[in-house]
Amino acid sequence: MMNRIFLSCLLLSLYSAGSSLSCRWLDHKFRQYNQRSSDLLDIMVNNSTNTTEDAELEVAFPHDLYTQASKASAGERLGFIVQSLEQMALLFEEAHNSTSWQEKTVEDFVNVVSRQADGLRSCPILRNIGSHNHKNKKLRMYFKRLSGHIERMDHSAEVWELIRKEIKVHLFRLNQLASSLLTKN
Ligand SMILES: *[C@@H]1O[C@H](CO)[C@@H](O)[C@H](O)[C@H]1NC(C)=O
Ligand SMILES: *[C@@H]1O[C@H](CO)[C@@H](O)[C@H](O)[C@H]1NC(C)=O
Ligand SMILES: *[C@@H]1O[C@H](CO)[C@@H](O)[C@H](O)[C@H]1NC(C)=O
Ligand SMILES: *[C@@H]1O[C@H](CO)[C@@H](O)[C@H](O)[C@H]1NC(C)=O
Repeated sequence: MMNRIFLSCLLLSLYSAGSSLSCRWLDHKFRQYNQRSSDLLDIMVNNSTNTTEDAELEVAFPHDLYTQASKASAGERLGFIVQSLEQMALLFEEAHNSTSWQEKTVEDFVNVVSRQADGLRSCPILRNIGSHNHKNKKLRMYFKRLSGHIERMDHSAEVWELIRKEIKVHLFRLNQLASSLLTKN
């Protein structure tokens, strides 16, 4: 009896390892959390800064990384999403005491994004490939450059406004990437 249960558990876990698209969090929660984090960024808008349409961060948006990620395996795509969320959370933790943003809003943003990352980390495909050994170095460098830029701009309201906009674009692109992983039925 025990053996039979063990066997079906084993088969079940092999099955979920093989089927890349069996992730409840991705299917049922991702969109809601993505929307919530994007709404929180909207709340943080600062219309008093002089950031015009063409004001840009010194650090270019990593379109190429998204292009590469969109062509990668399901596990790598999901790993890319998780790593981006983790980096965003770290970046906004820095915002805690360096912006005039409501502390509560920043905290909520960090929480929502961290819970999203945790939820996705529970996806069988990530548990099985040990994603922690497969961090994207270029993505990490990109966030490191953003952070350095914020530092050099003395954490000004202007630079954070640009960062806020930039992160909104990331959330949009991550949502697209996640859509490509949803279970089709
Ligand atoms: C900022 O500007 C936008 C568009 O003009 C407006 O909808 C929004 O209410 C403003 N936000 C604040 C906090 O003033
Ligand atoms: C924004 O721009 C206006 C006009 O160019 C200028 O008078 C004002 O001082 C600027 N504000 C900040 C915070 O840089
Ligand atoms: C912001 O907080 C961090 C730790 O929470 C601290 O190390 C840093 O010095 C603080 N920065 C400012 C400008 O207060
Ligand atoms: C908005 O920007 C202005 C001008 O740069 C700054 O003085 C102010 O502290 C900022 N407010 C918030 C809530 O970030």
